[in-house]
Amino acid sequence: MIRGQGFGHAKIILIGEHGVVHGHPALAAGLTAGIQADAVAGSGRLRVPAWSLDARAGDGSPPGRALAAILSRLHAGDLDFHVEAGIPSRAGLGSSAAMAVAIARAAGAASGGTHSETALRAAVDDAEAVFHGTPSGIDAAAAFGGNIGRFRRSDGWRPVPVLQGMHICVGLTGRPRDTGAQVAAVGRLRERAPIVGKMMELFGDLVEAGERALAIGDVDGLGRLLDVAHGLLCGLRVSSPEIEAMVHGARAAGAIGAKLTGAGGGGAVIALAPGHEQDVIARWRRDGFDGFVAAVGPPLPTSGQHPGGAS
Ligand code: MEV
Repeated sequence: MIRGQGFGHAKIILIGEHGVVHGHPALAAGLTAGIQADAVAGSGRLRVPAWSLDARAGDGSPPGRALAAILSRLHAGDLDFHVEAGIPSRAGLGSSAAMAVAIARAAGAASGGTHSETALRAAVDDAEAVFHGTPSGIDAAAAFGGNIGRFRRSDGWRPVPVLQGMHICVGLTGRPRDTGAQVAAVGRLRERAPIVGKMMELFGDLVEAGERALAIGDVDGLGRLLDVAHGLLCGLRVSSPEIEAMVHGARAAGAIGAKLTGAGGGGAVIALAPGHEQDVIARWRRDGFDGFVAAVGPPLPTSGQHPGGAS
């Protein structure tokens, strides 16, 4: 019998990954796709069939250690979790944070819903620390929040006013990314090259401009900002041959802006291509990559499509 259920949103970062680790703001969106967890009576087992994952709290594997951290924080050791993953793992879409949020919410519901939001967030932070060391917290914030928000380490997540919803193409390079390694590499570059600090500040400026574009429905302006943000990320050396192929393919297929999203080095790409979304997806598929169309912001007349959907 199911004792509690929880959902965590997958995320895309529109502008500001890596800068956000160093205290600058970022813009992100929680997707309607994500992770659903059911909690049943048990003893700390975690199964995610879509990822061929079967772990036990404290078995020493990262998922087992993350689960143990959540259960310990919420005092909920007598539960098993069956997880439906609507997104791939290690693809740059915040799968670990989405799973942690889903499990924490399911565990909280199974325990009578008595945990505060702060306690659930602390449990998710503990789990994220297992996977990513010292993440900024943006993935967890988007997984909790959904919709479009601005995140800064010092302020947390704040929903952003968005005049009109939009479709965003999400491309999967197929190369797993390693967030911890990418963040560490950027940290080392920042120590060696003072210009990196200025580049991080520029991310903050792009975020401000992105918020203004979203508020007035300036999709073209937002597209240009995505391109500039990608240029900065290339300067931080977190792009990869697959990412570049996908970004250039998207632009050739009609995108008005395209960039890597998340830590880079692999993982995912996003492209804004009003009216050309299916052209971008077709181009990516022709080039051997996968992708889907997601709806972000206020509801659109036609719904977005998700992994495994009709895109
Ligand atoms: C990962 O989704 C985003 C990064 O900025 C890392 C972080 O914020 O923890 C690369």
